[in-house]
Amino acid sequence: MGFATDCIHAGQEPDPTTGAVTVPIYQTSTYVQEELGKHKGYEYARTHNLTRRSLERNLAALEGGEDAYAFASGMAAIQAVLTLVKAGQRVVVSDNVYGGTHRLFTKILANYAVDFAFLDATDPGNLEREAGRFELLWIETPTNPLMKICDIRALADVARRQGALLVVDNTFMSPFFQRPLSLGADIVVHSTTKFLNGHSDSVGGVAVVKDRGHADWLRYVQNAVGAILSPFDSWLVLRGTKTLHLRMPRHEENACAVAPFLYQHPKVERVFWPGFPDHPGHLVHRRQASGFGAMIAFELGSLDAARRMLARVRLSSLGESLGGVETLISHPATMTHAGYSREDRAALGITDGLVRISVGCEDAADLVADLEQALAAV
Ligand SMILES: Cc1ncc(COP(=O)(O)O)c(C=O)c1O
Repeated sequence: MGFATDCIHAGQEPDPTTGAVTVPIYQTSTYVQEELGKHKGYEYARTHNLTRRSLERNLAALEGGEDAYAFASGMAAIQAVLTLVKAGQRVVVSDNVYGGTHRLFTKILANYAVDFAFLDATDPGNLEREAGRFELLWIETPTNPLMKICDIRALADVARRQGALLVVDNTFMSPFFQRPLSLGADIVVHSTTKFLNGHSDSVGGVAVVKDRGHADWLRYVQNAVGAILSPFDSWLVLRGTKTLHLRMPRHEENACAVAPFLYQHPKVERVFWPGFPDHPGHLVHRRQASGFGAMIAFELGSLDAARRMLARVRLSSLGESLGGVETLISHPATMTHAGYSREDRAALGITDGLVRISVGCEDAADLVADLEQALAAV
């Protein structure tokens, strides 16, 4: 089936009891059994829930995976995937990732004798030379918030030569624009909180795998650890993905108006967006994705300038998160990437003057006008 058809139908069948077109919210903790060991395949809701399962099947289809497992947050999905790594093993991570991912790896999982090495993954050759032996390679592309581009196919080759897994956090692109499993990645994770749900009203995460063994392990972890996505949140994300193919082009169309506006603005020192031909990852991104997405970062030069601009936005909402139909604007240094040390942020270029915008689905002219009046305060 085509992508739009999968968005609307994959993983979902009319409810067998009533014929309801929409998968119901199976809000139950348990299921009645006829006699010992005789039941309909549903025993307890941490283990089995048809609303969650429908979402998982839907997301597996959208990413082209064998199976998917949904978790209570993007971070819970990331943590579940990291259970594939054992004490004494090594994980290589692209140097710029979401601050929460960096925090989980360096402040929590590093305590379990897993070694994390952060390297610039924009150059696969550099990674191959520097990385040494590793069991898992973790990347974002584009990265949050600097929009660096990693070559998924080339990094999949590097990982495969090591017998290592490649995991791609595909939150910024969504499967509408980029399908890492088809480029050689082993596992894709998402914060479903973002574009997949798309309406800023649910927190969740998913891991999509193409290997049956990984699927079985993640199902086991999902049940054993218990960080499941609730039936209501599963239903919300399932409703969100029904319009993913309609929302993403609109997000991008608006980004195509906002990014050039920022680029030419005298108060903006630099704009990070892979759609610009002078972006160092432009060609790689074009090869591996069908669009540039709606995440843009820009440099205003100082904390004071960023503070003044962010205090003036009216239509864009100042807040953490991204991927909603409403435009969200944030300050990585004090919000999403506060978990990095000041030195690490400085080394990467996550400055105090950096602002990140998740361009929503409003009218582009209104968004540009709002940014223009806010930049007048800088
Ligand atoms: C790229 C990326 N991955 C993972 C996460 C974590 O997701 P959640 O907030 O749903 O736990 C985020 C959150 O902002 C993110 O931006």
